Amino acid sequence: MRGRDDLVDDLIERVTGRRVTALLGPRRFGKTSVLGKVAAVVENAGTSVIRLDLYETRSAADLAVRLDRALSTARGSIGKRIAGFAANASLNIGLLRVEFARPPSQRPDADTSLDLLLDVMVEAALASPTLLVVDEFTGIQGVPGAAGLLRTKLQHHVRQIGVVFAGSEPSAMAAMFADQAQPFYAQADIVEIGPFSLADVTDIVDHGFDATGRQAGRLGGLVHQVAEGHPYRSMQLADAAWVRTPRKGSGEAAWPDALQAVRSRSAPGFEVLFAAFASAEQVVLRALAGGRPLFGSTLELFGSSSGAVQAARDRLVADGTLSRELRIVDPLLADWIRTTLPL
Ligand SMILES: Nc1ncnc2c1ncn2[C@@H]1O[C@H](COP(=O)(O)OP(=O)(O)OP(=O)(O)O)[C@@H](O)[C@H]1O
Ligand SMILES: [Mg+2]
Repeated sequence: MRGRDDLVDDLIERVTGRRVTALLGPRRFGKTSVLGKVAAVVENAGTSVIRLDLYETRSAADLAVRLDRALSTARGSIGKRIAGFAANASLNIGLLRVEFARPPSQRPDADTSLDLLLDVMVEAALASPTLLVVDEFTGIQGVPGAAGLLRTKLQHHVRQIGVVFAGSEPSAMAAMFADQAQPFYAQADIVEIGPFSLADVTDIVDHGFDATGRQAGRLGGLVHQVAEGHPYRSMQLADAAWVRTPRKGSGEAAWPDALQAVRSRSAPGFEVLFAAFASAEQVVLRALAGGRPLFGSTLELFGSSSGAVQAARDRLVADGTLSRELRIVDPLLADWIRTTLPL
């Protein structure tokens, strides 16, 4: 992973200083990769790491199983302590999923298991330097009361345990820390992960081509022009050019074919994705992709009401399809809309 040195350093400083931090950014911007790097660095320095992924968590049992898995795969010296504390609580760590698959009368109670697992996590983390990484934190909202419970378990220990949260729906994630009604209100510093700069992309592309005996030429700039700094799209386009570049060849020469290939590979997915948007959302996306104003003549063109368009715009910002500045986050989706549905 390249191009994120400043962010990684900043996060390491924060978690080492025990400042609870929330990393926010759109989908596919590299949050999980950055957290992985932070985890690897602190782990090398002797800190244990527990990684909990809450993507689309559905129930207390689901959350308990994920926490059980996170504890059973924790890295560093904490593993032994977790096993010890869990045994004291009669928890068979790593096996909760199997236990939940038993007939109802033999199944453990999900809320009790969750409570016990959280206690084990906190006890073990207090006994040795630990970083808790919670990815896709907004997923916890799928389990009523779980965010409050986690807050209660952690609240007196955040000076001792490093905690970093990450999430992909920027508005929902920000609301979890900025909305007074939420258990984690004002509990974390918010750090945003932004797009790659032109310099980042050029550095990544030049380095990748150099290191494998190829020349990038102007490829970095060409990638950046289309991907607009979107990290995953930048890497996807650069990779498509790389696989089409023979040893000693030039990435720049492979660019037209690479772009074409990525466009046609993504088109079927975009078709399905676009069809699933409500019609007012489609109007907003088409207007923004085509560089039209959202209201006025656009409303006449599509016969939409301004109330519906406003609500659709807000939904698209909330789910991360649009940035707060009302740009379509995925540049290839915007490109697909422009070419398939020109205005
Ligand atoms: N700094 C980077 N260097 C190389 N590749 C990167 C970098 N950042 C992101 N990527 C690419 O983008 C992809 C998405 O990254 P990652 O999964 O870390 O993002 P995310 O924000 O956690 O995404 P999601 O919203 O899907 O959870 C990676 O598989 C990788 O290909
Ligand atoms: Mg992720």
